[in-house]
Amino acid sequence: MTEHAWTSVDEYLNDRLVERDPALDAAQADSAAAGLPAIAVAPNQGKLLNLLARLRGARRILEVGTLGGYSAIWMGRALPPDGRLITLEVDPKHAQVAEKNLARAGLRDKVEIRIGPALETLARLAAEKQPPFDLTFIDADKQNNANYFDAALKMSRPGSLILIDNVVRQGAVTDARSSDPAIVGTRKLFDRLREEPRVDATAIQTVGVKGWDGLAMALVTG
Ligand code: SAH
Ligand code: DHB
Ligand code: MG
Repeated sequence: MTEHAWTSVDEYLNDRLVERDPALDAAQADSAAAGLPAIAVAPNQGKLLNLLARLRGARRILEVGTLGGYSAIWMGRALPPDGRLITLEVDPKHAQVAEKNLARAGLRDKVEIRIGPALETLARLAAEKQPPFDLTFIDADKQNNANYFDAALKMSRPGSLILIDNVVRQGAVTDARSSDPAIVGTRKLFDRLREEPRVDATAIQTVGVKGWDGLAMALVTG
């Protein structure tokens, strides 16, 4: 019963509330044509990222996990003229597809793709003493979710927002005995969020075209 209904509702919501953007449509199409996995955020989720970035007044955004640049376009669209988004991707082929998609979206000057394992790139960004990021979207290899959160927190300031995608995974997150690295990594993230006094966090379950999953959100308070 459920998956089909979730998809119909997503189609309805997208039709009513999510404006069509030729560059986003083309990014989806070209990512699929290039053989990238169909795991980008859904349109209504992309718009949520866009609204959160605008709500935050984000001028500097960090993304971990670029894929074809679909979520980066949504967030890049939220930036002011002098805003900047740095997105991290380990797969050069994904980065190449994203580069074209972002250029077509007119975001060449605002978005920088850094290729390499994100943990290494994050260490480099910290060493470069980048100004803090107002919003970080963590959406790469889930086994490193807690490590990415720690790195993002170091490069945040009070008021920054840290979002983590795919934290429910069809309910698998509750399995304390799971040996799936993605589940182990996400459970570590929740332990970090619980014990970390410098953030106030929540998470919500989501259903839709991407199945049953969830999004975590942490507001940096100190
Ligand atoms: N945020 C994208 C989807 C990202 S999918 C969107 O919604 O449009 C996850 C991406 O993380 C994939 O492109 C994958 O290659 C990348 N990835 C996986 N492990 C990584 C790592 N260690 N460092 C950087 N990127 C990684
Ligand atoms: C997967 C990764 C994602 O970022 C996502 O949104 C959905 C699925 C995956 O690796 O399966
Ligand atoms: Mg994701």
